[in-house]
Amino acid sequence: STRTPLIAGNWKMNLDHLQAIAFVQKLAWTLGDAKHDFGDVEVAVFPPFTDLRSVQTLIAADKLELAYGGQDVSAHESGAYTGEISASFLKALDTGYVIIGHSERRQYHAESDEIVAAKVKAAVGKGIVPIICVGETSDDLEKHGASAVPVAQLRAALEGLPKGTDVVVAYEPVWAIGSGQAATAEQAEQVCAALREVVKESLGDDAAAATRILYGGSVKSGNIAGFMREPNVDGALVGGASLDVDEFAAIVRYKK
Ligand code: G3H
Repeated sequence: STRTPLIAGNWKMNLDHLQAIAFVQKLAWTLGDAKHDFGDVEVAVFPPFTDLRSVQTLIAADKLELAYGGQDVSAHESGAYTGEISASFLKALDTGYVIIGHSERRQYHAESDEIVAAKVKAAVGKGIVPIICVGETSDDLEKHGASAVPVAQLRAALEGLPKGTDVVVAYEPVWAIGSGQAATAEQAEQVCAALREVVKESLGDDAAAATRILYGGSVKSGNIAGFMREPNVDGALVGGASLDVDEFAAIVRYKK
């Protein structure tokens, strides 16, 4: 495909702003000259909110070819929402992406499909590309198979968006997250293909051809190549393995 693969590192609640600076410097150094080594792979990191300003400054100062984004965003524009971060605030830090609807948000913060859809609209409204996370629990898998829940979640998240909207989708089976039990490449491909159909229905043919669909859940340097060989898997959303510079760099260089 003509889609540029995206390898995204979701740090979750790890690395304070000083650790983030050290990490990004080491990552850039490990990956070497961006033009030679990143090749046609886009690399993005998703630090905690308190790190974003430091990461932005470092990337701009050293001209690193590294994208970054938030791990969440408020559905609201501004006002009396204690503890929330708006899409405008993220945009003011040149944030390119934002993860929305991660299973940990859905599970621990009771984020419904409606809330996820509202957050997607808030991000898109400010020109930030949402990385919309969907995925089934092991219970869902047993009851409904792999595709039904992620397909329904994505349909809800894309509802009402204009045709051609720029989004990224991340398929993360909940049972595979942090478990060491990744889906097989074939399982990932099957669901990602179904998700591409949803993008087609909701956002049109051109968007379906252009949209990156990532796999996430226990991705490591040892299994990334298998996922990347699948026609409908366009990258990975990496959690645990993104916190180890050498391991994350090895995932980025999956072709070598
Ligand atoms: O956002 C990342 C995913 O939740 C995957 O996490 O790579 O630690 O399994 P993991």
